[in-house]
Amino acid sequence: MQNNSITDLFGIQYSIIQGGMVWVSGYKLASAVSNCGGLGIIGAGSMYPEVFREHIQKCKKTTNNPFGVNIPLMYPAIDQLMEIVIEENVKIVFTSAGNPNIWTAKLQSYGITVVHVVSSIKFALKAQQAGVNAIVAEGFEAGGHNGREETTTFALIPMVKQKINIPLIAAGGIATGRGILAAEVLGAEGVQIGSRFAVSQESSAHIQYKKLITRLQDGDTQLTFKELAPVRIVKNQYYQKLLALYKTHPSKEVLQSFYDEAKLKTGIFEGEVEDGKIEIGQIAGLIDSVASVSKIMEDMLKEYQTVKQQLN
Ligand SMILES: Cc1cc2nc3c(=O)[nH]c(=O)nc-3n(C[C@H](O)[C@H](O)[C@H](O)COP(=O)(O)O)c2cc1C
Repeated sequence: MQNNSITDLFGIQYSIIQGGMVWVSGYKLASAVSNCGGLGIIGAGSMYPEVFREHIQKCKKTTNNPFGVNIPLMYPAIDQLMEIVIEENVKIVFTSAGNPNIWTAKLQSYGITVVHVVSSIKFALKAQQAGVNAIVAEGFEAGGHNGREETTTFALIPMVKQKINIPLIAAGGIATGRGILAAEVLGAEGVQIGSRFAVSQESSAHIQYKKLITRLQDGDTQLTFKELAPVRIVKNQYYQKLLALYKTHPSKEVLQSFYDEAKLKTGIFEGEVEDGKIEIGQIAGLIDSVASVSKIMEDMLKEYQTVKQQLN
């Protein structure tokens, strides 16, 4: 894999970024990815501010390579998180789910590289306007929250590429060397991978969550809760109950109470895989083992080189 604008921007060896993930990407996962030459990211979304600080401090002790943090901009105590980022001298911040205008310039004034995650051309242009250093464009096959428009990675990346002039990272449905190569062909300079790393040994998700994901096939996840905050989840019992609720034409308030963020912890972190909310991407159908980060990275890089040579 060659150096490019993304490896230069972050000071990393491979343009492979591990997406920030609630209940999944603590310092163990982030430092493991960074130690393998990618960019590991601590997901702040499920952490209390002081827990977040601890993870940053532990990450500094477990890797000497660059790492970043992911901050969903809707986080209630966002000011506290940003203070911690500045105090702890974090150098790379990925923001998502919110307005990039509010924090980008301030963070950059402390020498922090800021990347924003978007799911459409409209939001990519807004992020570029806000002055971010790079964009993650995420197709709707991705795990976690996503756009209502259901634009796939294959369609989104070339469209965003045409409109922006800052480095572009592709996310959604990428878990192999072939996927990375495809994203490059479509115009991305780097990839952000979530689901594959969620099912690694270093991920802090519960083992029952990881085992469930290895059993999933295509069609086993669905983008739902479009009225509130669209999110891709597994079609388990929790999802069946949601379908039954939809049939009653619930008000937004009723839907909101069923939405319940605590169910994410139940599903991902505590391993209640039927009763909890299980976020994962469509590419789960391709994931059939719980492997170490080093094995995942090695396999992806090997396949990337082999397929690239075959194409040449
Ligand atoms: C369990 C899970 C939790 C996630 N949590 C977040 C999050 O807190 N913030 C965020 O920006 N993206 C989040 N994502 C999205 C990932 O960072 C990444 O962009 C996405 O997983 C890429 O698509 P893929 O799953 O097909 O690899 C999450 C994804 C998963 C699977």
